[in-house]
Amino acid sequence: MGSMIVNGMLEKKCISPEAVLISTRHPETLAALTGKYPSVRVAESNRSLARKCSRILLCTKPLDAVRVLSEISGDLRPDTHIVSIAACLPLERIARFFPGPVTRVVPSLTGEMQAGVTLLCHNARVSRKAAQEIEELFSALGTVVVIDEENIDVATDLTSCGPALIAVLMEEFARAAVRHSTLSLEQARALAVSTLSGTARLLDEQGSPTGTILRRVATPGGITEEGVQQLRSDMPRVYDTLIQRTLAKYELRKADVGAEGDRLLDPGP
Ligand SMILES: NC(=O)c1ccc[n+]([C@@H]2O[C@H](COP(=O)([O-])OP(=O)(O)OC[C@H]3O[C@@H](n4cnc5c(N)ncnc54)[C@H](OP(=O)(O)O)[C@@H]3O)[C@@H](O)[C@H]2O)c1
Repeated sequence: MGSMIVNGMLEKKCISPEAVLISTRHPETLAALTGKYPSVRVAESNRSLARKCSRILLCTKPLDAVRVLSEISGDLRPDTHIVSIAACLPLERIARFFPGPVTRVVPSLTGEMQAGVTLLCHNARVSRKAAQEIEELFSALGTVVVIDEENIDVATDLTSCGPALIAVLMEEFARAAVRHSTLSLEQARALAVSTLSGTARLLDEQGSPTGTILRRVATPGGITEEGVQQLRSDMPRVYDTLIQRTLAKYELRKADVGAEGDRLLDPGP
C-alpha cells in the first residue's frame, strides 16, 4: 500500500521525489521506486525519519504501526502531522503516542488505477489547511471521501475490502455459469468482468441509478427479473452476515492492537 500511494502521488506530480524520505525494514524492496525516482531518499531508521519529516505516512500493518509509533514518539517534531493507513488503529489510540494532528486514511487497491475511493478522517488537531493538503495529495489515487470515524469500518468494507469482495462475486457468477454450460471458466470470467466494467460506467459515469438499469434491462415478468428476484431474496442475508463478520473481526483486531499499545505504553516491571 505504501508503494502504491507514493508511486501514485509521484506519478501525478502531487509530490516531488526530492521531498520523499522512506524508512523500511528491507530497503532492497525499494529498488523499483528508487530506480524510477533516483531523488527519493531512504532514511537510516524510523527515528531519523521522524526527526526530519513533518508529514509522516505510516504504512505498516496495524500491530507494527503501534510499535513504530512507540519507537518514534520521542523523535516527533512539534509540526508533525501523522497520516496512518493502519486499519483497526483508531485516532484516539494514536493520540496516546502522539497528541498532535493525525489523519486516518483507508486506501484501496483501486488506487493503483487512479480509481475508487480513499477514505479519510482527521482528528480535531488537523487544521483546515493541512486537511485540504492531505485530501489533495490522496486525490492522486482517485476519489477522496472524508468520513466520520464511527462509520470507517463499514465504509472500509465497501471501498477497501471491496475489490476482493467484488472480484469474488464475479468469480462465483462465472463459476455458476460454467456449472450450467460448456463455457470455460476463462470465457465466463471474461464475460462477467467486461459486464462489470460496463455496468460500473453506467452506474457511475452516466449516473444511472440501479432502478433505471433495472427498468431498461429487467422487463416485468421477463428472464432478467427472475434473476433479480433471486438476488433480492438471498443477498440481504448474505451481505448482513458478511458485514456482521467483518465488523466482529475489526473489533478483535482493535482489541489486539489496543493491547499491544497498552503493553508498549506500560511495559510493567
Ligand atoms: N492491502 C490493502 O488492500 C489495504 C487496504 C487498506 C488499508 N490497508 C492497511 O495498510 C497497512 C499496510 O498493509 P499492506 O498490505 O501494505 O502491508 P505490507 O505489504 O506488509 O506492508 C507493510 C510494510 O511495512 C514495513 N514495516 C513493518 N514494520 C516496520 C517497521 N518497524 N519499520 C519500518 N517498516 C516496517 C514492512 O516491511 P517488511 O517487508 O520488512 O515486513 C512492509 O514493507 C495495514 O495497516 C493495512 O491495515 C491495507
